[in-house]
Amino acid sequence: MTRTPYVAGNWKMHGTRRKAAALARAVAAAQGDTTARRCTVFPTFVHLDIVRRNLRDSTVRLGAQNCHPEPEGAYTGEISAPMLRDVGVESVLVGHSERRHLFGERDAFLADKLQAVLETGLEAVFCVGETLEERESGRTFAVLERQLGALRRVAPDQAGRLVVAYEPVWAIGTGRTATPAQAQEAHAEVRRLAGAILGADAAATLPLLYGGSVKPGNAPDLLAQDDVDGLLVGGASLDGDSFADILGAAAP
Ligand code: 13P
Repeated sequence: MTRTPYVAGNWKMHGTRRKAAALARAVAAAQGDTTARRCTVFPTFVHLDIVRRNLRDSTVRLGAQNCHPEPEGAYTGEISAPMLRDVGVESVLVGHSERRHLFGERDAFLADKLQAVLETGLEAVFCVGETLEERESGRTFAVLERQLGALRRVAPDQAGRLVVAYEPVWAIGTGRTATPAQAQEAHAEVRRLAGAILGADAAATLPLLYGGSVKPGNAPDLLAQDDVDGLLVGGASLDGDSFADILGAAAP
């Protein structure tokens, strides 16, 4: 089964218009028009438009970091999936650990968001991962199973727009990356759990990204794992040269 390598940059709450535009140009230049690897960047909402314009003719896709499950309504401060589609967004992160842990977003709410993104015709990058305490008490697989329960509402015709990112919370922004073997073990379990819900064919083509302190130096070994199809990069995606090196590791 060949799955196209996929590298995503989650810019989190960083940047100015000027920096976002420059970074978009750097990523676009590094990616060019290749289809040998997929690349999506996730700037802040307020930088979506300037980033879209600076991605120009590259194959880099525009993503958003979050959305609300409802299409519109009295939800002050929120942004819906159809609004994101309207400004050119093609992919949305759902359930990033910072949303789960810093903003208290629970499984049922995230399942609603996942459904909203897929119903809108967008790609969803659904993020899962255990805390250090959950890992050390042997609950990693149980946590992944609970979080992946959101996939039960994914219809067969939506599964092709689903991406799952495994991001162990203890590896995010800590400099402590999962070893390639730890990443592979978790990814194999995510694929098995996804297969139990979506069926074997959908699971075989499901792109699984690893995230958590990915850097140019550790990207090749992570990508060499059978079930690691790509990377969701935080800090290192804010530096054009580092991100270009990671893109190069995914496909020369
Ligand atoms: P870091 O690469 O900074 O650890 O962040 C990972 C992440 O959260 C990507 O979504």
